[in-house]
Amino acid sequence: MLGFSWVLLAFAATSVNAGRIVWDGSFNNYTTPADFDRWSWANQVGSYQWYIKGSGPTSRYLNVDAAYKNPAITSEQRGLKVTIDSTATWNSQMMRTELIPQTTANLGQGNLFYHFSVKRTNTNPPDPTLEHQVMFFESHFTELKYGVGSNPSNLGWYAGGQQRWSTPFSPDVWFNFAYDINFSSRTVGLWASTGGNPLTKVVENVAATTFTDSRDFHVGVLRIVNRNPPEDWYVSGVYVEEGPITTAIGSGAVPPPPPPVPTTVPPSSTVAPPPPPVSTSTPSGPLQTKFGQCGGTGYSGPTNCETGLSCVAVAPPFYYQCQ
Ligand SMILES: *[C@@H]1O[C@H](CO)[C@@H](O)[C@H](O)[C@H]1NC(C)=O
Ligand SMILES: *[C@@H]1O[C@H](CO)[C@@H](O)[C@H](O)[C@H]1NC(C)=O
Repeated sequence: MLGFSWVLLAFAATSVNAGRIVWDGSFNNYTTPADFDRWSWANQVGSYQWYIKGSGPTSRYLNVDAAYKNPAITSEQRGLKVTIDSTATWNSQMMRTELIPQTTANLGQGNLFYHFSVKRTNTNPPDPTLEHQVMFFESHFTELKYGVGSNPSNLGWYAGGQQRWSTPFSPDVWFNFAYDINFSSRTVGLWASTGGNPLTKVVENVAATTFTDSRDFHVGVLRIVNRNPPEDWYVSGVYVEEGPITTAIGSGAVPPPPPPVPTTVPPSSTVAPPPPPVSTSTPSGPLQTKFGQCGGTGYSGPTNCETGLSCVAVAPPFYYQCQ
């Protein structure tokens, strides 16, 4: 019965020119925050890796509920509430609550569409005076940002470090996006819509240093600078599609065909992402103090750190910090 109705759904979707889903990051398999805790480096289960987080319990940073999804996405049972607060520091003084795809699929070749939807409300709203990096690749060749640019209260789309598009980040509105990435020609464009409206292409592809190793896409939020106010972000509809793009909201996240049975056990990786490069500049002039900014796009302050500290590229090319 179930299998049959999935087949019908899949047929309905493909008949409107849908691509193939190469990774399904819906939260249908996550009914409580504890489900994210089942993943570890030694036990890599589920759709997401969960290690870029603060020191508190998972329920402080991640929560799942039907009320947290875009209601137009009928194929999803629930969405994710992503919270950052003053305890959410990870590997730096930045607040980070981020999920990473747990997959052996190669999500970095051909023409792929990274679909997701984000929302905020007026409760625990994101602070427009602080820089946020949202739904990004570790190399930051494309990402959403909030709290920066000529209109910091806009949600802005960046490719190659430049803002290409932005929209007022109004409360209680679902903003749907697809990053349109051609890993062969190394370009990225943007599709967008609100609510249940179909996606339209809002920015044609531009050159970017496209790169992913399939663990590179960060579902969640990084806030630069440690301050107290807690913030909630809502995320729904995360999936990666091989073109042509599905523009309809809600019919896209068709369950993928069952994964092939692995014939070999993949080596269990305990390797964290490599440390960022350290600046080798020779100190001269004013020195920055610990956890102060020492470089990055648009930054014009001191670029050398006090003795014993290094200028670390924590979010290159945008933010470097003395540590
Ligand atoms: C989701 O749950 C279903 C049913 O338990 C299971 O068959 C499937 O493999 C799960 N998917 C993932 C990605 O864990
Ligand atoms: C992606 O780039 C490759 C190499 O330039 C090109 O052949 C292909 O047509 C592009 N795909 C799309 C969908 O534009």
